[in-house]
Amino acid sequence: MKPNVILYKTLPDDLRQKLDAQFNVTEIPDLSAENQKKYAHALAEAQGLLGSGDKVDSDLLANMPHLRACSTISVGYDNFDVNAMSQRNVVLMHTPTVLTETVADTLMALVLSSARRVTELDAWVKAGKWKESVSPAEYGVDVHHKTLGVVGMGRIGLALAQRAHFGFSMPILYNARSVHKEAEDRFGAQRVDLETLLKESDFVCIILPLTEQTHHLIGAEQLKLMKKSGILINAGRGPVVDENALIAALQAGTIHAAGLDVFEQEPVPANSDLLKLPNVVALPHIGSATHETRYGMMRDAVDNLIAALQGNLEKNCVNPEAAS
Ligand code: DGY
Repeated sequence: MKPNVILYKTLPDDLRQKLDAQFNVTEIPDLSAENQKKYAHALAEAQGLLGSGDKVDSDLLANMPHLRACSTISVGYDNFDVNAMSQRNVVLMHTPTVLTETVADTLMALVLSSARRVTELDAWVKAGKWKESVSPAEYGVDVHHKTLGVVGMGRIGLALAQRAHFGFSMPILYNARSVHKEAEDRFGAQRVDLETLLKESDFVCIILPLTEQTHHLIGAEQLKLMKKSGILINAGRGPVVDENALIAALQAGTIHAAGLDVFEQEPVPANSDLLKLPNVVALPHIGSATHETRYGMMRDAVDNLIAALQGNLEKNCVNPEAAS
């Protein structure tokens, strides 16, 4: 008998066929309380769960007594209660490798757009305001040879450092729990404490997952350490930065600009003060959102679920100890 699986994200046809070949699949629109009621029987019978974005908490787990594996179409898993999953011997699979280069491209796009005011000046031209040669009022600041600070030197940090070092001749500082030898050897990156990184970087790039330790890691006190010309980039998780403190710093002009792909609340409310600031580049959490990479993430998530339900946790498992 094929295992039962709940799918809460629509997959391309070829990947759906691959999943159907292995499992009895019930596709549901999302994991809302309403759908948990509506599909209670299918949830109660399922051994696997595949999708992204929605919360997987102890209430949902209680409705899924036969669950053995969840597979998320994302690298981040802050919406999963991993402790509760481990207690119930449910493993969590994720997609940490396939999106690295694409997210690093997004970070570089935020660095360039915020420094050279790309989105602001695009809107200015389209509004018919380009009447003569630009004046200093439209100038930006250089990116090349400026210091890039990477907070969280994982795979994505490394790919960003590669772009910054080879493409833009930027000195790299990084803050991480341990020495990253490859970043140091290949890109001359220098490990410093957070305070030094904030004080010395022209671009402070946050690429951290959201945990209890990283929540509001960057608040008023940390923003005060940044250069007045400093630019804050966040493409990790919104709540790593205290958004009210960031708004205050931008309004007071104690930092120069921000480039944000993530927000404390997503979608960011249309009336957020952040969106009123011309020196904020705001993107709708598109870090990994290219056709190629989103397909690759879904492909990996399908393969991860197949592997996990066959007991193979060698790759991409967050909590392999939960299986024992
Ligand atoms: C991830 O994979 O975690 C990205 O942030 C997209 O959600």
